[in-house]
Amino acid sequence: MIKLNGIFKYYSNNFIKTYVLRDIDLEIQQGEFVTVMGPSGAGKSTLLYILGMLDGPNSGEYYYKDQKVHKFNEKQRTELHKYEIGFVFQQYHLIDELTVYENIEIPLLYQKIKGSERKSIVCDMLDRFNIVGKKSLFPNQLSGGQQQLVGIARAIITKPSLLLADEPTGNLNSEQGKEIMELFTKLNKEGTTIV
Ligand SMILES: Nc1ncnc2c1ncn2[C@@H]1O[C@H](COP(=O)(O)OP(=O)(O)O)[C@@H](O)[C@H]1O
Ligand SMILES: [Mg+2]
Repeated sequence: MIKLNGIFKYYSNNFIKTYVLRDIDLEIQQGEFVTVMGPSGAGKSTLLYILGMLDGPNSGEYYYKDQKVHKFNEKQRTELHKYEIGFVFQQYHLIDELTVYENIEIPLLYQKIKGSERKSIVCDMLDRFNIVGKKSLFPNQLSGGQQQLVGIARAIITKPSLLLADEPTGNLNSEQGKEIMELFTKLNKEGTTIV
């Protein structure tokens, strides 16, 4: 499903290049559940952003389902991201001014799905995540665990083939963290590839 060949990523500062990723090769098969481990600053988030097409490497090849992502321009990358990938952030990244319902709905708006269909998809998701009663609340009215559930609901609302989760339980207590990991295990059993 995914193949990285010789990926390099660096940041330039005063003409000095600091390498975050150096010659990374990686292969991920459809249906895998892969964990990336390393100390803080090792480049885990950078790697996930590249896999998620939210950022590009400085050099190297990225094949996604045999498509040459490294040859894509930003618009093509964004388009592929929109239909293929769900991304869960450690800091949730929900939109504060939107309700739970509206946050979950966003990716469907980007995909230009019609109103009635959108409503039924979002309602199913609220139901599945047991958060129907929270649909009109704003993110700051939720606990961290609830916000992350909303973040995950938003990430999987379009049924992505690939779910990327960047330290999704990093800000949660162990009970909430366990719940989220069980949810990921279930999604993986249903066929979603997870990193
Ligand atoms: N925009 C940036 N400019 C300069 N350095 C950056 C930038 N983003 C990340 N880095 C550096 O890249 C390194 C890897 O960061 P990151 O991928 O976030 O690591 P991890 O997620 O494993 O903690 C860190 O040393 C970080 O300071
Ligand atoms: Mg990180």
